[in-house]
Amino acid sequence: MVYITRKEIFSAAHKLERKDWSDEKNKEIFGKCSNPNWHGHNYTLFVTVKGEVDTETGFVINLSDISKIIHTKIIAKVDHKNINLDVDFMEGILPSTENFAMAVWKELEGSITLLGGSLHCIKIQETEKNYVEYFGN
Ligand code: NI
Repeated sequence: MVYITRKEIFSAAHKLERKDWSDEKNKEIFGKCSNPNWHGHNYTLFVTVKGEVDTETGFVINLSDISKIIHTKIIAKVDHKNINLDVDFMEGILPSTENFAMAVWKELEGSITLLGGSLHCIKIQETEKNYVEYFGN
């Protein structure tokens, strides 16, 4: 089994806020990410796929095919967008990096399977110091 990873970057705005909490509690729990007038992050997305190496191509899956899927299903929807307001697959979901990684997994899994690979990990880096990894369960 070999693991291959495609890395993509995008910028997006968000706000972490629960409407059922007071402004004070949102600020206490979510800190800067609760800023009422939004803020942005430069995100890095790592999509790791596992599979056996094809003896003819030497590839698990062609990384350019994975890139196309990531661009169509994720980057086109999130880059320079507001994750709370603009992104269909995040509708009604608190846009923490954890929830975002799980939602991205759902968006990509089927297409990766169709290519003959198996999605292994969605890693999203939100800041230089923080990243989240999701392995599907
Ligand atoms: Ni934030």
